[in-house]
Amino acid sequence: MKAAVYTQYGIPEVLQLKEVAKPIPKDNEVLLRIKATAVNSGDVRLRKADPFAVRLFFGLLRPRVNILGSVFSGEVESAGKLVNRFKAGDQVFGHTNMNFGAYAEYISLPEDGSLALKPTGISHHEAAAIPFGGVTALHFFKKTIIKQNQKVLIVGASGAVGSAAVQLAKSYGAIVTAVCSTSNIDWVRSIGADKVIDYAKEDFTKNGEVYDLIFDSVNTISIPRTLKSLAKSGTMILSAAGMSDMLQGLWISMTSKKKVLTGVISHDRGDILFLKELIEKNKLMPVVDRTYTLEQIVEAHAYVERGHKRGNIAITIK
Ligand SMILES: NC(=O)c1ccc[n+]([C@@H]2O[C@H](COP(=O)([O-])OP(=O)(O)OC[C@H]3O[C@@H](n4cnc5c(N)ncnc54)[C@H](OP(=O)(O)O)[C@@H]3O)[C@@H](O)[C@H]2O)c1
Repeated sequence: MKAAVYTQYGIPEVLQLKEVAKPIPKDNEVLLRIKATAVNSGDVRLRKADPFAVRLFFGLLRPRVNILGSVFSGEVESAGKLVNRFKAGDQVFGHTNMNFGAYAEYISLPEDGSLALKPTGISHHEAAAIPFGGVTALHFFKKTIIKQNQKVLIVGASGAVGSAAVQLAKSYGAIVTAVCSTSNIDWVRSIGADKVIDYAKEDFTKNGEVYDLIFDSVNTISIPRTLKSLAKSGTMILSAAGMSDMLQGLWISMTSKKKVLTGVISHDRGDILFLKELIEKNKLMPVVDRTYTLEQIVEAHAYVERGHKRGNIAITIK
């Protein structure tokens, strides 16, 4: 089968289209013909081994996982004899977790992994744009409680995680303020933000507003300054936190009523099913900035690495 393979860390060009062996599913697995995947910030981090800690988990000198891509949408080609949930022909979407492997024509996945039937009414490339931001925002929101009319601020609202966070917070009934660049203001409003702050013109830590929840998806805030904008028992989510942010967050959580959530996300089948239902109720919409083919994977990575994408970059696989 065709796959985008990388055997060394580095620039986008380390990704090369190659013929590799088609996976053979185990008895509890489905073999999926992937129709679309997406290039996410996580793929770029792994490709570049940035931060260095990537090497500790994925290979010190060269990557142990050679096919990136953590999200997919496609069709079940065959199912192992112990599989009950899916059958050949089912259209499914989901997240491979840390196994990656979705930049390829085929992947085999355990039936109880993070996958579900594709939401009705959306295409494969739209479905592939849901899981990365969706499960990340959901992971953190599940660790807190968002009540109706609570004030939520999302920094990085135009990214994959931020745009999912805006829509999920709205689905819980929150009043959402989004922080983004000038060019994204109207678009961020169109996905549900009630108020928008242009970070080039206004510093939200200086406007006197206090929020019940502040979600920084891009790691651009100063934690000490932002604390003043957080309600007394408020929650701060730092989905892109580095080690020093994590330690600061731990200290704040231990010494005050404010709670700071950081760390690596986890997810399961229930989360993908939850996202599917939100889509089918029109409470979550896939946001696709650009679509590339697998043959254009280098171009797609170069675009994502610039850090200005709006939502997601889908990759179609023919
Ligand atoms: N904890 C975990 O397990 C986990 C899981 C998934 C992702 N993450 C991390 O979460 C981070 C975000 O991921 P992502 O995929 O959402 O990134 P992304 O899609 O690449 O988001 C970048 C977006 O942020 C905007 N932006 C840049 N500077 C900004 C600023 N100063 N203020 C507000 N917005 C700004 C960019 O638009 P403009 O440049 O136009 O502003 C762009 O739309 C990454 O660091 C990723 O590694 C962590």
